[in-house]
Amino acid sequence: MSKHPVNVRARPPAATADYRAVLKQALQSHQAGDLDIAERLYNDVLELRAGQPDAMHYLGVLCHQRGRSDEGMRLIEAALKITPRHPDAHNNLGNIHKECGRFGDAERCYRKALACGPQHYNAQNNLAVVLEAQERLEEAFEAYATLLRQAPKFAQGYYLMGMFLRNHAQSMEHVEQSVECFRTAYALDARNVRALESLGMSLYALHRLEEAAQVYRDWLAREPEHPVPRHMLAACGAAEAPSRAADDYVREVFDAFAESFDEQLLKNLNYRAPQVLAEALGERLPSASGELDILDAGCGTGLCAPLLRPYARRLVGVDLSGGMIEKARLRGGYDELQEAELTGYLQAQPSAYDIVFSADTLVYFGELQAVLHAAHDALRSGGWLAFTVEVAQGEDERIDLSPSGRYQHTRRHVERALSSAGFSRVSIGHDTLRKEGGQPVTGWVALAQRTPGH
Ligand SMILES: C[S@@+](CC[C@H](N)C(=O)[O-])C[C@H]1O[C@@H](n2cnc3c(N)ncnc32)[C@H](O)[C@@H]1O
Repeated sequence: MSKHPVNVRARPPAATADYRAVLKQALQSHQAGDLDIAERLYNDVLELRAGQPDAMHYLGVLCHQRGRSDEGMRLIEAALKITPRHPDAHNNLGNIHKECGRFGDAERCYRKALACGPQHYNAQNNLAVVLEAQERLEEAFEAYATLLRQAPKFAQGYYLMGMFLRNHAQSMEHVEQSVECFRTAYALDARNVRALESLGMSLYALHRLEEAAQVYRDWLAREPEHPVPRHMLAACGAAEAPSRAADDYVREVFDAFAESFDEQLLKNLNYRAPQVLAEALGERLPSASGELDILDAGCGTGLCAPLLRPYARRLVGVDLSGGMIEKARLRGGYDELQEAELTGYLQAQPSAYDIVFSADTLVYFGELQAVLHAAHDALRSGGWLAFTVEVAQGEDERIDLSPSGRYQHTRRHVERALSSAGFSRVSIGHDTLRKEGGQPVTGWVALAQRTPGH
């Protein structure tokens, strides 16, 4: 959906207008994110020249961006009937399949794009991503390697190869190679700061924490206001940890994550926090009655929505990252989405919810007291809070900010924070939430009730 208000009325198509000029305007509006205007102009082109393949193709892309993926696919397929050797159209059709999780169909489209244009780097890149998503790792590695051979100056190619090597590392040598890839990606394109963040993460995986800290220090020297190196320097133990991740850090990280959401999601197939938490909650709820008011707290791209929907009369998602909210909106399933900081949002919702559900979000909070107190007051009497956080080992009451950038809590900290917020019927299980660097990450799976009658 367009972030820009529509305040410019596009000219209606004059009978004599040149469709090419209107198409050019449509493409400019589309690139600028003015989707309302772009959609109208593509339709104007199609009125002027029925079946114009470029207008159909890009209107198809736009329909998908607006959540109308089936319509988008039909339009691109129609365009391809007219211009069957159009690599961009095959590539964009592949992207729709990929984002809808149909990796086999996406692969076929990318291969067609490459058959039409063997130097189509994006198609090669996308082919590698969907092969990886299908766990065909050797083929994926070959596809990334082909990309780097064909486009040795393509920073994103090195970045993706680095991510592949680290995510599927079979030995420390692969992680070391990822370090080289991220360094090259950053050297080729200094705007690629995600390569720097990933470089720090690989160094951390190699236990070279001081080098990781130096990457963040250098970055901070160049960009003193940048929230990511500020947070990550603290995560490496080289600066004082904040009591929770700063709002600008969360926005920066997750807006960027939302951009590459499909790519990241595909690689984190082992992410299970939503399912694990929903199963634990399901044991406490009588049935999927569709009668509850539910808050998905830190909803991200909306992965939890289909798990919560059967219980919900009203399902609200709240998240600090506008990019993630936008993805959740496209995915659908919520009655309402709010871009807001969680504690502040909860404080403004007294006794509004039957369930507050938070998967993998309180890992960005160190001190849990304030947010759990706010969650308690946002629940109705007898309502349930369900959340996951990562495990810090030990019997003491402790919070660690890990070099991953996420906080870890000991069981005792979670118990104390829940009881001081006023919860009862507390249960804290543990389960694997995801993998990091090939290793399972264990989390606390916590459930607690606002005491009935209170
Ligand atoms: C790892 S994602 C999890 C998203 C989703 N719950 C899921 O399981 O897929 C964490 C989300 O928490 C959000 N978040 C972190 N701190 C927040 C805060 N203080 N207020 C609101 N949202 C926050 C981030 O923007 C991000 O979307």
